Amino acid sequence: MDEVYKLLKDDTEIVEKLDQGSVIRNFYTDQIIFITDPTSLLGEIIVEKLLRCCSQLKKLYILFKDTGGMTVQDEMKKYFESSAFDTLRNKIPDFYDKIVPIKGNLLAEDIALSGNDKNDIIDNVNFIIHNASANQFGDTVKSILQLNVLGTKRILDIAKDCENLKTFVYVSSVYAHCNEIDIKEKLYPCSADLKIIHDMIAADTENKNGLSKAALEMILGDYPDAYTFSKAIAEFIIDECSKKSNFRSVIFRPSLELPSYKEPIAGWCHKDKGPISGFIGITLGAIHTIWAQDKAIDFIPSDMCGNALLASIWDASFTGEKHEEAIVYNYGSSMVKPVTLRKITNLLENAASDRPSMKMICANYTVITKCYWLWFLLNVMIHVVPAAIVDGFSLLRSKEPTALTSYCEATRNLESVQYFLNGEWRVHVEKMQQLCDRMSETDSTLFYCDIRKFRWEDYADPFWNGLRVYAIDDPMDSLIEAKQQFYKLRIRHYISLSAVLIFISYIIIQFI
Ligand SMILES: NC(=O)c1ccc[n+]([C@@H]2O[C@H](COP(=O)([O-])OP(=O)(O)OC[C@H]3O[C@@H](n4cnc5c(N)ncnc54)[C@H](OP(=O)(O)O)[C@@H]3O)[C@@H](O)[C@H]2O)c1
Repeated sequence: MDEVYKLLKDDTEIVEKLDQGSVIRNFYTDQIIFITDPTSLLGEIIVEKLLRCCSQLKKLYILFKDTGGMTVQDEMKKYFESSAFDTLRNKIPDFYDKIVPIKGNLLAEDIALSGNDKNDIIDNVNFIIHNASANQFGDTVKSILQLNVLGTKRILDIAKDCENLKTFVYVSSVYAHCNEIDIKEKLYPCSADLKIIHDMIAADTENKNGLSKAALEMILGDYPDAYTFSKAIAEFIIDECSKKSNFRSVIFRPSLELPSYKEPIAGWCHKDKGPISGFIGITLGAIHTIWAQDKAIDFIPSDMCGNALLASIWDASFTGEKHEEAIVYNYGSSMVKPVTLRKITNLLENAASDRPSMKMICANYTVITKCYWLWFLLNVMIHVVPAAIVDGFSLLRSKEPTALTSYCEATRNLESVQYFLNGEWRVHVEKMQQLCDRMSETDSTLFYCDIRKFRWEDYADPFWNGLRVYAIDDPMDSLIEAKQQFYKLRIRHYISLSAVLIFISYIIIQFI
């Protein structure tokens, strides 16, 4: 009878738990998670979601990069002052109790953890989310390889010692395999090993100007840059480790991250990060011509990406076994809800015209062309020549000419961006869709990540509002003034356009 009672009791508990709603939330109950890189947009969104929606979590270890300045407690305090945590602070004021902030550096041995922190992690942690990364914009070949490959190896070495580790999650990128057209949710063969990485780092360090372009291109083969190459190698290292260890490994590959759709605040984003900076240039009227094909570009809102990551950890716990190869989930939109750059730019420009920003420097219009030479010509006419004219006027007024320098600065990564705007990739997400189908109704709402249910048209407003307020730093209360200014910018734009057209007509008439 006791046995029957026990079963009944257990069942009741399970039913009660399910009744409370979320299976995924229950999955994280009493678990201890360690996350590297809380400060990126995705990292911040994951930390916020875990603390707000999985409040039964036991502990969250957060790795702050050791910059030698503030104490880790001050670092944590400053971090949680962000508006991203406003709802969390109101809803769960004692959330701090769950957090264990630690200082470390993925570039150093043992990621520079103190002995106590390391032991604590090794004894307790159930899940590791490795999100920290260097990117192709601004980081050198050496720093990309050191952080993305050797840093990943270091954190895996710690993971191997963790006694209670269930799953190691690596945040990769769908473009880790941009040498393929069809990017499937599977592992791909690796073209390099750790020895090559060490050699590349040594060569990049020894040469004053870093690895030569020719040498780099030869090693990278069909990878466009050291970032995508490093992500592919990191995946390989994780898979190798997965087959030998007692924990499960998940490789989660997001595509290009955009501001959040709904949480923690609709449109939440950071300044100058990833593709977001390009859209700032477009909406503020600084970028007017882009060379891009009329094909789907893989974008995703970052909150849906964070939800998909947390859901994939849950999903993998049913599908993966220890000592098996890593489980891969892609998270992209191109196969399910494709959007072209032209469409998303139009949506965004319309929203920006409705609620313009004081920081707009020109009327926002963008000519997107598939033809490189047409783009080149327009670029010279619309961007370079006006910048040179502005600089000329500055010189005449004995002011420092800055327009051309700003243009060069803004287009520093143009080649790399153009590669991604002109390729054709199909990001397969079948496994991710099956995951969404397995989610309960409550979880589909709480951890919304089903791209099939997403509409770009509904996203345009949060996207622009978020860019305006959080990335451009222009609060909505400037709207009336901004509308008046936008009106003037438009008139100025039509006058200059008319002047250019009259000038071109005049030249043509002279030749007829
Ligand atoms: N952004 C995208 O569109 C995109 C697309 C696909 C995949 N991903 C992946 O998503 C993840 C987040 O990307 P992100 O672009 O949002 O990143 P990010 O903004 O460039 O942030 C990189 C993070 O890594 C941390 N970090 C750098 N060096 C470190 C070190 N030595 N030790 C410890 N931490 C260090 C940084 O900390 P500090 O802030 O303290 O410097 C920062 O928080 C990455 O794995 C990336 O590959 C991003």
